[in-house]
Amino acid sequence: MIRFIRADDVLAIRNEVLREGRLTLDECRFPNDNAEGTFHLGYFDNDQLVCIASFHPQNYKEFQGKAYQLRGMATLESHRGKGIGNQLLNFAVVYMRGQKVNYVWCNARKKAVPFYINLGFEIMSDEFDVPVIGPHYVLYLKIQ
Ligand SMILES: CC(C)(COP(=O)(O)OP(=O)(O)OC[C@H]1O[C@@H](n2cnc3c(N)ncnc32)[C@H](O)[C@@H]1OP(=O)(O)O)[C@@H](O)C(=O)NCCC(=O)NCCS
Repeated sequence: MIRFIRADDVLAIRNEVLREGRLTLDECRFPNDNAEGTFHLGYFDNDQLVCIASFHPQNYKEFQGKAYQLRGMATLESHRGKGIGNQLLNFAVVYMRGQKVNYVWCNARKKAVPFYINLGFEIMSDEFDVPVIGPHYVLYLKIQ
């Protein structure tokens, strides 16, 4: 089951999956987590939160239109490869289409690029490095 959740709810999985448990929960906050228009989604397996994603209003470079940046996409290792991340992002896209959002984009880890391509995202940049985390690409999905 997919639900809208609070910024505080995503911190533990962000830390475990995206920061290898190295940070405090507070250090896992993103600056826009509570900004106007930001929303966070969670997939629950029974009552356990197993997959998260956060979205905040943000254009990519000079691109025009209503846009969201996706950040903090993560599925617990035990629950990967079951289509949960795919369902969560599809839910987000349907919601954003209803909000008249034109496109969503993200800085994607190289390893996760096939996951986004499966969902219809396109690669928008050359490979670039994010210190400590590794190689990334900008990915973009037109919504309407
Ligand atoms: C990237 C990540 C969020 C994907 O989450 P997930 O829940 O495993 O995603 P899905 O199960 O929908 O898709 C993952 C793979 O399983 C495959 N898969 C297996 N069974 C599937 C099913 N029943 N339905 C859909 N896809 C299935 C998909 O084809 C997909 O393959 P691909 O990655 O080569 O495209 C997850 O791997 C993760 O948290 N990784 C570590 C953190 C990370 O890299 N986050 C992204 C930062 S940009």
